[in-house]
Amino acid sequence: MRERSKARMDRFVIEGGRRLEGRVRVNGSKNAALPLMAAALLTDRPVTLRGVPALADIENMLRLLDELGVERTGELGAGGALTLRSADESNSHARYEIVRTMRASICALGPMLARRGAARVSMPGGCAIGDRPVDLHLRGLRALGAEIDLDGGDIIARAPASGRLKGDLVFLGGPMGSTVLGTANVLCAATLAEGRTIIECAACEPEIVDLARLLTAMGARIQGAGSPRIIVDGVESLSGAEHEVLPDRIEAGTYMCAAAITNGQITMENCPIDCLLAAQDRLEEVGVRVERLDRDECPTRATVRVTSDRVLRPVEVTTQPHPGFPTDLQAQLMALLCLADGNSVVTEKIFPERFLHVAELARMGARCFRQGATVVVSGVRRLKGAPVMASDLRASAGLVLAGLAAEGTTTVNRVYHLDRGYERMELTLQELGARIRRVEGSD
Ligand code: EPU
Repeated sequence: MRERSKARMDRFVIEGGRRLEGRVRVNGSKNAALPLMAAALLTDRPVTLRGVPALADIENMLRLLDELGVERTGELGAGGALTLRSADESNSHARYEIVRTMRASICALGPMLARRGAARVSMPGGCAIGDRPVDLHLRGLRALGAEIDLDGGDIIARAPASGRLKGDLVFLGGPMGSTVLGTANVLCAATLAEGRTIIECAACEPEIVDLARLLTAMGARIQGAGSPRIIVDGVESLSGAEHEVLPDRIEAGTYMCAAAITNGQITMENCPIDCLLAAQDRLEEVGVRVERLDRDECPTRATVRVTSDRVLRPVEVTTQPHPGFPTDLQAQLMALLCLADGNSVVTEKIFPERFLHVAELARMGARCFRQGATVVVSGVRRLKGAPVMASDLRASAGLVLAGLAAEGTTTVNRVYHLDRGYERMELTLQELGARIRRVEGSD
């Protein structure tokens, strides 16, 4: 991976209007891999993860784990296997310098607290997609007997005097439903707690199911992952394990939208189609065909062909917790709806401020009218290339898609946001026939 500071100001230059065609293999999921990596803190035995994507956020997590005493061997990327071993448990402080680069550092909290009896993790601040509190994570860990204080911007968590957390009933519902990383934290902590933990209003996201699979392979006793009630019977210790990371449903959904917006046809391998039913439903309503080409393979690693109709129909879409339409695909679908034949309505129910792409899409000729957490997208016949920028990963992906369809040249600035979540996005798009290149340097 290129040095971060150098990559910071790279931009993509896109000549739009090319129909995308070809094959893509979906990479391992970033949002599954981050808590899986943190779960290595639960044992001193080696945990091997296959298919961890080579992304900036993953490098940040490796840097954090390194500081926390976790040794790393092996390779990232498709076909690679990364082995993590928590060899030195003396430093349990996740410092602000790392946490501020990546909020997902919070998922070190539950595993460290459970295994080491104490943890200090810098409190993540706000971010470009809005206010992102961690009150539910802390409520859940307190319910397991942890004592939690705040000092100098750090969360300080300690297990009870016995050194072990104690299973209990934990309710993880908040104003926006459950919390994905909060569920990951409490689930990890409960695996080593004394007795039974029942997590009510647990997140049902596939990334939680994947985490439960790894934990079970490590010897944890878990029932109900993927449903709103997870039951965990604590064990004294966990062993090492090997695990293949779930394919990235958001990367897959993004390339589905790329096929749709360019009137193209993309065949995707390793596609977690069973995790994308709400996205498939909305895309089919727009007029995009999503067909499984295999019948025997596992639906989480399916081969899927996506073909777009010439006329895109407007739709209503509301982001929701899984299995609803994912917030992480909202910007990409909105880019597509900018070219639909009529008015679409997009409502954000997870992150009501997650609309950084709206003003940028307007610079390309889109007609979007926002009121609170809802945007009415009035379809236009064509988008026009422009220099754009968004300080959020998925918003940037939406702008790249708009650039692929727009007339003329679009420059998407600060692609380091994209590098956080998409492996070699420009190369994948080039292979599909897009005219897109990375230009290094300042914007
Ligand atoms: N919330 C609270 N209190 C909490 C935690 C969350 O009120 O203690 C609220 C949030 O403010 C939000 C909602 O609950 O309104 C859901 O947030 P959640 O905690 O589920 O988000 P997260 O776990 O921090 C993960 C993904 C995000 C994705 C969300 C929602 C990772 C590393 N991140 O974040 O992914 O948008 O779930 O599905 O898994 C991305 O990949 O671009 C990304 C932002």
